This record gives sequence, C-alpha cells and structure tokens, in this order.
Amino acid sequence: MAEAAFKAAQSETHTVLQHASETMSEHLLNADGYLFAAPENLAALSGEMKEFFDRCYYPVLGQIEGRPYAQMICAGSDGTNAARQTARIATGWRLKEVHPPLIICTDAQTQAAILAEKTIPDADLERCSDLGATLAAGLSMGVF
Ligand SMILES: Cc1cc2nc3c(=O)[nH]c(=O)nc-3n(C[C@H](O)[C@H](O)[C@H](O)COP(=O)(O)O)c2cc1C
Repeated sequence: MAEAAFKAAQSETHTVLQHASETMSEHLLNADGYLFAAPENLAALSGEMKEFFDRCYYPVLGQIEGRPYAQMICAGSDGTNAARQTARIATGWRLKEVHPPLIICTDAQTQAAILAEKTIPDADLERCSDLGATLAAGLSMGVF
C-alpha cells in the first residue's frame, strides 16, 4: 500500500518512503506534508507506528502546524480505531487533513489468515496510488 502511494506521489513531487522506525523528528520538520500508513493491531495503531508518534510528538509540536496530511490503514476487518488514533495525534499537531482515511481491509480474521502473507488487490492498490498522487499533486501545486 505504501509503495503504491509512494510511486504515484513520486511522479508528482519529491517524495520519501520511510519506515516508522527510521523516521526521526528532523524528517518530519523537513517535509511539507505526510502520508501515514500503518496496520491496525488489537484495535489500535501497530506498536511500531505508535512508537514513532510517541518519539516524535513533542520534539515537533508547534513546528509543523497547518501542514497537510492523509493516512492509510491496513486492517483485517475494521481499521477505524487506528484511523481515529492517527487523526487525534494529527489534531494535536494541528495538521490539516486533506483526504479522509483510506482503510483497506484484507479480510484476515482467523489466526491462519492473519499470519499469512497478504496480497492487496489491484483495485485497492489503485486507491492507494490515487491518494499518494492527490496529496503530492496538491503539495506541488500549493493548493493546500
Ligand atoms: C496482533 C494482531 C492484532 C490484530 N488486530 C486487528 C484488529 O483489531 N482489527 C482489525 O481489523 N485487524 C486486526 N488484525 C489484522 C491486521 O490488521 C491484518 O492482518 C492486516 O492485513 C494488517 O496488515 P499485515 O497483515 O500486513 O500486518 C490484527 C493482526 C495482528 C497480527
């Protein structure tokens, strides 16, 4: 999902794809906008994504206000709590949501399905591409 959004965004403006664990507050400060992407685990953001927000929240607070953002959540069957959590953090940062959360459900609900490798259908990947392109195009045109 993240790669699909990244590829589409790249064709519109300079874009960086980074794992949450390698993203530091400097990266946030140096970016004009953000597309957060995470799985939902146990009705919450994945621990790694939460760790990124916990680590970077106060170091950039007050310095990224008004910047545009959007989010993508990969979930087995729900995804709404993870999206809500991200939105709440983004509200604290005073970011500007420029697209509703994109939640892609993989229908993984059994232990076997959850632990299996997933293939995201092309139609869903296209939605990720569209979101990446929309965010990047808006940034490059300065419409946000
Ligand atoms: C520990 C764990 C907890 C999960 N909890 C939820 C959940 O609360 N809601 C949901 O919709 N999916 C849940 N899932 C399913 C994942 O969101 C699903 O597997 C999705 O495809 C995430 O991407 P991944 O498979 O690449 O990790 C959970 C998965 C794991 C491993």
